[in-house]
Amino acid sequence: MASILQKSLCLFSSLLFHLIPLLVFSVHVLSTASPAAVQTEVEEADSLLRWKASLDSHSQSFLSSWNTTAGRPCNWFGIHCNEAGSVSNISLSDSGLEGTLQSFSFPSFPNLVKLNLSNNSFHGNIPAHIGNLSKLKILDFSVNEISGSIPQEIGMLNSLTYIDLSHNPLTGTIPASIGSLTTLQILYVQKNQLSGSIPQELGMLKFVTQIDFSINSLTGTIPTSIENLTNLWGLYLDSNQLSGSIPQEIGMLRSLTELALSQNNLTGPIPASIGNLTKLSLLYLTDNQLSNSLPREIGKLTKLTQLFLEMNELSGTLPSEMNNFTLLELFIIYSNRFTGQLPQDICIGGGLKSFSIKETTSRNSN
Ligand SMILES: *[C@@H]1O[C@H](CO)[C@@H](O)[C@H](O)[C@H]1NC(C)=O
Ligand SMILES: *[C@@H]1O[C@H](CO)[C@@H](O)[C@H](O)[C@H]1NC(C)=O
Ligand SMILES: *[C@@H]1O[C@H](CO)[C@@H](O)[C@H](O)[C@H]1NC(C)=O
Ligand SMILES: *[C@@H]1O[C@H](CO)[C@@H](O)[C@H](O)[C@H]1NC(C)=O
Ligand SMILES: *[C@@H]1O[C@H](CO)[C@@H](O)[C@H](O)[C@H]1NC(C)=O
Ligand SMILES: *[C@@H]1O[C@H](CO)[C@@H](O)[C@H](O)[C@H]1NC(C)=O
Ligand SMILES: *[C@@H]1O[C@H](CO)[C@@H](O)[C@H](O)[C@H]1NC(C)=O
Ligand SMILES: *[C@@H]1O[C@H](CO)[C@@H](O)[C@H](O)[C@H]1NC(C)=O
Ligand SMILES: *[C@@H]1O[C@H](CO)[C@@H](O)[C@H](O)[C@H]1NC(C)=O
Repeated sequence: MASILQKSLCLFSSLLFHLIPLLVFSVHVLSTASPAAVQTEVEEADSLLRWKASLDSHSQSFLSSWNTTAGRPCNWFGIHCNEAGSVSNISLSDSGLEGTLQSFSFPSFPNLVKLNLSNNSFHGNIPAHIGNLSKLKILDFSVNEISGSIPQEIGMLNSLTYIDLSHNPLTGTIPASIGSLTTLQILYVQKNQLSGSIPQELGMLKFVTQIDFSINSLTGTIPTSIENLTNLWGLYLDSNQLSGSIPQEIGMLRSLTELALSQNNLTGPIPASIGNLTKLSLLYLTDNQLSNSLPREIGKLTKLTQLFLEMNELSGTLPSEMNNFTLLELFIIYSNRFTGQLPQDICIGGGLKSFSIKETTSRNSN
């Protein structure tokens, strides 16, 4: 009897012993982490609270779990920590947050790997101090109202694999410093108001798989340095004001499955090297000033499912090699100057859903 009582008392006091540090936040921290880690954790908590205080009142009430009585920031909404208890992931997408990044203390988050603020109402510009996030791998600021230009300090984030700045009113040029992001795989800046030319340094991104620059105001030519991007499978440059011809170096992008160059000011012929892109499934060249006849080599693109060539100045006959397009579903060529007959086997795959030459005939009859 006595020994049982003693045992349970013992259990009770050991429970208490374990509970006390949990109840007192700072004691718990001090008992488990090094002084440097404690300092980082306190600084991270303070920095998040200071940023929260700069946001609008709706955002502040949405982030009610961000408070000191709720304990470490690791338990706060949208915040995740690494094993050492330092903030590694801030994911606050789709949260209706409104405010700027000016009060966000970038140097306070040395271990941040992911920052996702997608689909909120953040405005103001991207502070140059973003370059302080030296471990950042994933940056998603898409669908906000972020303006100003992309700071060249973005090139300091040399762990980045994924960057999405799409659907914002960003202006200015694409900084040449992106060439330093040698581990980058995804680069999305579509639907902004970016101008200037595409930097040659793009050719340094040898691991990039997807580049989307569509729906901006980019000018100049498509840089020949793209020949280095042998892992690229999606290249979207449509809806800009790019000029010059499609560089023959495009033929080096052997992984390419989707190529969109529609709605630009591209001139000259479609290069024969396009025939090297044998994985290509989607080819969008609509609404440019491309001329000459289609190269026979286009017949090597046997994986094509969608081919959009309308609203150009293409001429001559459609090469008989197009009979090889057995997977074609959409084939649109109106408003060109093609002559002769359609390749007789173009429908042989049985997949063709839409085919349009209509505007060609009405334009010819004008
Ligand atoms: C602090 O966060 C906790 C945990 O989410 C929550 O229950 C509490 O209401 C918050 N306190 C304040 C003052 O917002
Ligand atoms: C970051 O947090 C989000 C949201 O909770 C989660 O889906 C994602 O897996 C986390 N990513 C990393 C790299 O920790
Ligand atoms: C950011 O969050 C949104 C919404 O949850 C999600 O769709 C998107 O994939 C996330 N971005 C990254 C890079 O994980
Ligand atoms: C954006 O977030 C809002 C909530 O703030 C949500 O209703 C909407 O579906 C989200 N949009 C997208 C495209 O995810
Ligand atoms: C943070 O970024 C600013 C602006 O680029 C720079 O001046 C500063 O040296 C950086 N600090 C650290 C600790 O990296
Ligand atoms: C192509 O890649 C090589 C080797 O990675 C690099 O030295 C060269 O500068 C790149 N070319 C261009 C035009 O970016
Ligand atoms: C097409 O591929 C061949 C074989 O790899 C290569 O030698 C040639 O340079 C490529 N042509 C162009 C114009 O890219
Ligand atoms: C693009 O072409 C249009 C129409 O041909 C012309 O008005 C415009 O100036 C051109 N823009 C550029 C940047 O070349
Ligand atoms: C394409 O068709 C031509 C004949 O029109 C044929 O000689 C050629 O081998 C075909 N190419 C491929 C890649 O199937």
